[in-house]
Amino acid sequence: MKFKVPRGTQDILPSESWKWQQVEAIIRDVCELYRYKEIRTPMFEQTELFQRTVGDTTDIVQKEMYTFTDRGNRSMTLRPEGTASVVRSYVEHKMFGYPDQPVKLYYSGPMFRYERQQAGRYRQFVQFGVEAIGSADPAIDAEVISLALDVYRRAGLKDLKLVLNSLGDGESRKAHREALIAHFAPHIGEFCTDCQSRLNKNPLRILDCKVDRDHPLMASAPSLTDYLNEESAAYFENVKRYLDAIGISYELDPNLVRGLDYYNHTAFEIMSTSKGFGAITTLCGGGRYNGVSEDIGGPHAPGIGFAMSIERLLLALEAEEKTFVDEPDLDVYIVSLDEEAHRKGFTVLNDLRNAGIRADMDYMDRKMKAQMKSADRFNAKTVIVIGEDEVKENVVQLKNMEDGTQQKVKDSLLLEKIKEQLK
Ligand code: HAM
Repeated sequence: MKFKVPRGTQDILPSESWKWQQVEAIIRDVCELYRYKEIRTPMFEQTELFQRTVGDTTDIVQKEMYTFTDRGNRSMTLRPEGTASVVRSYVEHKMFGYPDQPVKLYYSGPMFRYERQQAGRYRQFVQFGVEAIGSADPAIDAEVISLALDVYRRAGLKDLKLVLNSLGDGESRKAHREALIAHFAPHIGEFCTDCQSRLNKNPLRILDCKVDRDHPLMASAPSLTDYLNEESAAYFENVKRYLDAIGISYELDPNLVRGLDYYNHTAFEIMSTSKGFGAITTLCGGGRYNGVSEDIGGPHAPGIGFAMSIERLLLALEAEEKTFVDEPDLDVYIVSLDEEAHRKGFTVLNDLRNAGIRADMDYMDRKMKAQMKSADRFNAKTVIVIGEDEVKENVVQLKNMEDGTQQKVKDSLLLEKIKEQLK
């Protein structure tokens, strides 16, 4: 029997993981710049947490969750996204009592959704996300958006588009909801069964139905923007003003409703506009979720955040033909010519590593020529050759691979010489 990686997942091999590490380093730097601190939550949670927050009528909860019953007969779910867990943790650890509000958190880790596999869509993917919880200042909406764009820009992406909408507050959404029901109800029989059950539960979800996307009633559906009450409209104006103030341009899209139920007010997505990018152009999605804390038993704590998958970021970089910094070279490779030399080489290797020098040696008992070839492939700056004579005389041969020179060096002086050469 042959085993394969499960559908929708991937192995990230060393040639790729180096790129991931570079992106992760950028993420850490940018989060530090904006004072967002890392939070790590479990990879599974009680199923009900996602039902309550992401929403019972969403595709994620209805079709895409990896849910299982554990041995204690509890329903658990592999997290399909990070916001629910972060807010759960915020409430559980009473972060609302921290002296510095809002609490600004970031996370990066695997998420799981049972989706149809295609380019840029996986069943396990890594989301980097941030959440700022505890403030309803529209400036923080702009901060969060700016942070996401900063990550992309530092990674080297240029072909980006920010799309913005406001979903308004509870009152605006209620008015819009009623208008949607009135709009779709007379023809609901022409829609898929999911949409039929969404009509009274959550008509907004009809708007992002993948099946009925092209139904003529979709394009003519009442737009949320027309139902924003004064307060919501003023909030949205302020968010835009803050974005304008820091030179972030955006496109308004009244149809941007997002696929999760917890959103209100600001909703946004960042898309790739690169020609080389595949069908899925959304790189990042986020928005405001005032009320989630209360929904799960916490105090009033307005929040805003976003998440982006690292996979899509890397695909976008590829589409824009961005190159990565090469992997770091090896400082020293040790070539040994017999068993005694191998033993000596192994202790030299240990000394080098203790001194912070990146070093490796042959473990395959190969001929000298093959060992030298490895040194070349690793781009070793220096090669140490140890044979029978070198063991007897307490020396090694030190070969500078940059200029090709070779010298005999006493064991006692080796570290000093190598450090000099590596300078
Ligand atoms: P989301 O729009 O469901 O939002 O996902 C955010 C991002 O995760 C997407 O834009 C995409 O980059 C990535 N993503 C989602 N599904 C997949 C998949 N199957 N394969 C690869 N990448 C994927 C959320 O998850 C919210 N929690 C974002 C948020 C945080 N809102 C407020 N705070």
